[in-house]
Amino acid sequence: MIDQGLFGAIFLTQLVARVKLAFMAEAREKIQEKIQSIRGMNDICDPEIHLWQNLEKTIRETYESFGFVEVRTPLLEPANLFQRGVGTDTDIVEKEMYTFQDRNGDWISLRPEGTASVTRALIEHQWMAEQQTVKVYYIGPMFRYERPQKGRYRQFHQYGLEIFGVENAKADAEIIAAQSLLYEKLNLSEPELRLSSVGCQNCRPAYKEILKAELGKRLQDIPEDFHPRIQTNPQRIFDLKNEKVQKFAGQLPKLLDHLCGECKTHFDSLKAHLTDLKVKYVVDPLIVRGLDYYNRTAFEFTSQHLGAQSAVGGGGRYDQLVENIGGKATPGVGYAGGFERLVLLVEQSLKVENRFDAVVVSADEQGAEAAMKLAMDLRRAGIKTESDLAGRSLKSQMKRADKLKAKYCLILGSREVQNGTVVIKDMDQHQQAEVSKNEIVEHIKKALNV
Ligand code: HAM
Repeated sequence: MIDQGLFGAIFLTQLVARVKLAFMAEAREKIQEKIQSIRGMNDICDPEIHLWQNLEKTIRETYESFGFVEVRTPLLEPANLFQRGVGTDTDIVEKEMYTFQDRNGDWISLRPEGTASVTRALIEHQWMAEQQTVKVYYIGPMFRYERPQKGRYRQFHQYGLEIFGVENAKADAEIIAAQSLLYEKLNLSEPELRLSSVGCQNCRPAYKEILKAELGKRLQDIPEDFHPRIQTNPQRIFDLKNEKVQKFAGQLPKLLDHLCGECKTHFDSLKAHLTDLKVKYVVDPLIVRGLDYYNRTAFEFTSQHLGAQSAVGGGGRYDQLVENIGGKATPGVGYAGGFERLVLLVEQSLKVENRFDAVVVSADEQGAEAAMKLAMDLRRAGIKTESDLAGRSLKSQMKRADKLKAKYCLILGSREVQNGTVVIKDMDQHQQAEVSKNEIVEHIKKALNV
């Protein structure tokens, strides 16, 4: 007869072994599970990355030619920065922000836009104490939990610029002109500039009442989930994609027709500056920006080539934002464009050539060692060069030089090493010559004009 204690011990050991096996199988399954990037978040790699780098360069050069200075703010900010800055009643704060508690229990958000962060930095570093006008720009990732589609992602990038400290419309005109020049430099026939004014604290309340009364008469044509908004933010009606609403939206009273004298003068002055600067625009009273901080100027650059996501970028004036975030009252105006949307537009008009200046090719082992050294000398001289690292045959190295669209192919073997020469092949002209090793760097620099 088996002792009951022994039986129990055997049973327990078997149970533990089974549980262990089950855990191991689950762990194996997990290891084999494909790990993919998060929906709406993309890798930007070869060949697209070259276009991104070129665009970034042109954006920087353009903005810096106006005296804007780059600022890089953290991707994470206290959640209440955007609640106070962008507005609790906006889609961005209500539905789209990535907000979570960190290990300390503090509420943190991934930034959905750049203006609130830059404004926080302005206050924190007291930039306005040092200068009357602050002009900054940024390029970087932003995060919004939206439904991904062409031109709309959950991690996307913005290029943006802001001017603080100027109340008159010259600052608005300069922001718009910088943008316009950028799109000109990129040879984009579009985008079209659509311009409006969303008034100020003086004229907006009276207009809101007029609009509310009008919407009250059409409740049956307005989706029920919008009804509470009629009281809080009735202008968002112009942003509704609802078919019934769109039919009558054009007949609703427009804020542009109810501006106070000061807002009207500001808007007229902006239009006059833009005309002077030869920046074309159309007045579009139906523009509603999705952020609450705007007053007076509101504008968008739009393109027909982007499908449903037609906004290339948007911006406007925000004279209360600094105060709302806790700083001294300071006027501000700015713009941000969507980088991915710019890529989509530019892809159609610009072919970026990512060519290597030189590829050093080795015919044998002695040549391979010399090739690595020569490639380094060429890079020191600012020449973009590749040499083989994998010990490929001469034929496959030549094939790779073709693939990299090398302008020059430099061939080294033991014969050349002994003679102190390099064979240089002009890949465009299909000509070949032998040049002294001591002169090769200067020879290529001259040929490339660097
Ligand atoms: P926004 O209109 O919310 O303005 O965004 C500016 C641009 O960012 C849009 O026009 C669009 O091109 C791009 N964008 C927005 N969301 C996405 C997305 N999910 N996927 C791809 N692109 C997107 C602002 O953010 C303001 N901070 C602009 C500003 C600066 N106003 C004054 N200064």
